[in-house]
Amino acid sequence: MDTPASFAHIQIAATGNYVPPRIVTNDEMASYVDTSDDWIVSHTGIKERRWAEEGISTSEMAYQAAMNLLSKGDHQIDAIICATATSDYPGFPSVACILAERLGVFGPALDVSAGCTGFIYALEVARGLIAGKTARTVLVIGSEKLSDVLDLTDRNTCVLFGDGAAAVLLQSSHEPLFIDTYIKSEGAGSQSLTIDAQRKVITMQGRAVYAFAVRVIAETIDALLERNDLTIDEIDWIVPHQANSRIITASAKRYGIEESKFFMNIDRYANTSAASIPLALSEMEEKGLLKSGQRIILVGFGAGLTYGGNLLIWR
Ligand code: ACO
Repeated sequence: MDTPASFAHIQIAATGNYVPPRIVTNDEMASYVDTSDDWIVSHTGIKERRWAEEGISTSEMAYQAAMNLLSKGDHQIDAIICATATSDYPGFPSVACILAERLGVFGPALDVSAGCTGFIYALEVARGLIAGKTARTVLVIGSEKLSDVLDLTDRNTCVLFGDGAAAVLLQSSHEPLFIDTYIKSEGAGSQSLTIDAQRKVITMQGRAVYAFAVRVIAETIDALLERNDLTIDEIDWIVPHQANSRIITASAKRYGIEESKFFMNIDRYANTSAASIPLALSEMEEKGLLKSGQRIILVGFGAGLTYGGNLLIWR
């Protein structure tokens, strides 16, 4: 007989995504700043990115990602958490509250601001809502309109980012499939990656962020393996924040992990910040890459500086 779903057990029950239709190629970027397709591909792995049209906000993309998820099954939503650094409004309403109104959800709705690690943080907040019996299902979304905060005179940053949104439904389940979370911050590095409040553009010390990223990816994977008595060979997929393919290559090399274990789609979407990990997960599910019982590590790093990861088993 089926045991009833337990609040102590949690799974990712569904995924969805939305990317704007407009493709911005590296050649187009070369019409704004002194760069080239060769430079961008060889230094970042990015071939193109999506930019949302004027009037398509972060909350609209989040809504489209939620609708995509809901089109795949009959799901009830008790609570909404949105990870974003590019909210429609500088203060309120939050993206999650805008969505709650549009989706007819009356449970908790809040945004999480933890840069490119936002989705990892948001999953843990959602897990807490379920474990605390406040909600049985939580829609966790990453949505970013980074094209609004690009400095199109700065070739060091403007080529790196794109727009997009993706969602997962976290739900109480029969089996324990959400195994562990490791989340941290290093406030001392906060100035190396910011959205400048006056100019409303991204500023970044690329080399400092690069070194930070390679270091904390290893630390996060190590911690999750050690705490759960696992070896890297027992992990089927690592889904990293899609910041730069060279960061992934360096991390894989440092760790001695085959690079094919890291899922990458940065070539098509660039860095979509808090949306990048759910966008990768959702695409993996659409492509049939995720099989029941597979162990997955999600790993994020970004502004704050923040970093961390989750260990999951696919349903
Ligand atoms: N096109 C052409 N040349 C460029 C470009 C560009 N788009 N961007 C920088 N350059 C030039 C620089 O001006 C510099 O020229 P100079 O030597 O004449 O001054 C030269 O390339 C080397 O610059 P570096 O910053 O040393 O380039 P590097 O090889 O380190 O690559 C990069 C830059 C890709 C940003 C790298 O530092 C990096 O990967 N950093 C990680 C940061 C990252 O990925 N951030 C993403 C957002 S953060 C996040 O998601 C957590």
